[in-house]
Order: sequence, then C-alpha cells, then structure tokens
Amino acid sequence: MIVENENDIKHLKAIGHICAMTLQKMMESAKPGMTTLELDNIGAEFLQKAGAQSAPQAMYHFPGATCISVSPVIAHGIPGDCILREGELINIDVSAEMNGYYGDTGASMVISKHVPEYEKLLAAGRSALEKAVRVAVAGQPLNLIGRTIQEEAMRNGYGVIYDLTGHGIGHRLHEDPTEVFNYAKPKDRRILEEGLVLAIEPFLTTGKGHIFEERDGWSLRTIDRTIAAQFEHTVIVTKGEPIILTI
Ligand code: CO
Ligand code: CO
Repeated sequence: MIVENENDIKHLKAIGHICAMTLQKMMESAKPGMTTLELDNIGAEFLQKAGAQSAPQAMYHFPGATCISVSPVIAHGIPGDCILREGELINIDVSAEMNGYYGDTGASMVISKHVPEYEKLLAAGRSALEKAVRVAVAGQPLNLIGRTIQEEAMRNGYGVIYDLTGHGIGHRLHEDPTEVFNYAKPKDRRILEEGLVLAIEPFLTTGKGHIFEERDGWSLRTIDRTIAAQFEHTVIVTKGEPIILTI
C-alpha cells in the first residue's frame, strides 16, 4: 500500500510494534527441550493479548500462528512436536493484522549456544537488512535493495536465496510490489514511491540459493541442504530515512 495519512502510519506502527514485540518475546523464550509448538503458543498468546491476528493463519490457513523453521528448513516451518536443541539454527517469522493493517518481521538465531559458523552468517544477514533498509528511499530504483543485499552477502562470503523475496504489504500481507528481489536484477526498472510500505527480507546462505517445498506443503529448505538465515523489517519509504515499523 501507499501510506496516505497519519492514520495509516499510526495503525502500521501499532501492528509493526506488536509483531516486533512478539518476535522478541519468542526469541527470548526459545530454549532447548521446548517444542516449536510450545514456542508458537507463546507467540499466539502474545498476539491475542495485543488484539492482533496471526496473518498466515487468517490469510493462508497456515497451521500455526507464526512460522518456526528449524535448519535445514529455512522458512514457513510449521510449529509442531519438533524439540529445540542447543546449538540449532532456527528462524522465527511473525506477521499479523490489526484494524486492517499488516506487519511482518522475522529473525534467525541459534538456540542457547555460541556457534561461530552460524553467528557469522547471522551477523552478515543483519548487516544486509540494515544496509538494504537504508537504500529504500523514494525515487531510487526498487532493485537497489536487492543489489545492496547481494553485495553485502557476497562481501561476507555468502550468497542469497533467489527463490524468496520481500514484498509490498499494508492492507494485505502480500501485495504490490509482489517481488522485492534479494539480488541485482538489471531488468527490474521499478522505482520506489514515497509512502510505499515494504517488507524487506534478505535470506543469506552458504549454498547456491535455490529451495524446494517439503511434503508437508509448507516447509521450505535449500535444495543443496545448506544453511540460510533471514532477517525482516516492514518499512515505509520516505524521501529520507525509511520509517522502520517493526521495532
Ligand atoms: Co515474514
Ligand atoms: Co515477509
């Protein structure tokens, strides 16, 4: 959506903040021995108390309030009886709706342990998101986001997942522009408009960057079974610094 007034901004900030708080609560709660369903329930309860609705549940009948992906699954993991183990790389993605407005955020993390190999990937992923958000400025090419993400990934010795993209958001979870690529695509001539609401979500990987869907119809994993990390923010594009909504 394109933000039209203060009311839009107010509601987007409210749901963005709820998504961010839910994600933070879940990351703090993720401990060895806990099932992903238990972790999802913490998120579900937090969203409910805040007056928000899980977006994947409401929009796509996703079997969970949030997506919890345990490596080698990298996205759309279904919460269930999978038990979290120390040193595991996981991703939590929270998207929700309130008063007709949507927010979307996500982060990868390691369960209760210092794993240098994972931490290096996480740091590069965070940095890619931070840099991508900074170039999301009205009048600039939309693909500057993808180019920036890919350059930052490569600078750190990683690649990107080509098959997963950021997206427009606002009155729906996924709306125009439907594909905010995480890589440079010279043919993409779209320009960022002032007021555009975007979910920017780089996925960095040690592998070649292609994925497949598991038999459960949701879970996505890399074809080459390499690891990946995602970080996501919902932002409003302005003529200057974007407004980060999911903080
Ligand atoms: Co998300
Ligand atoms: Co998203």
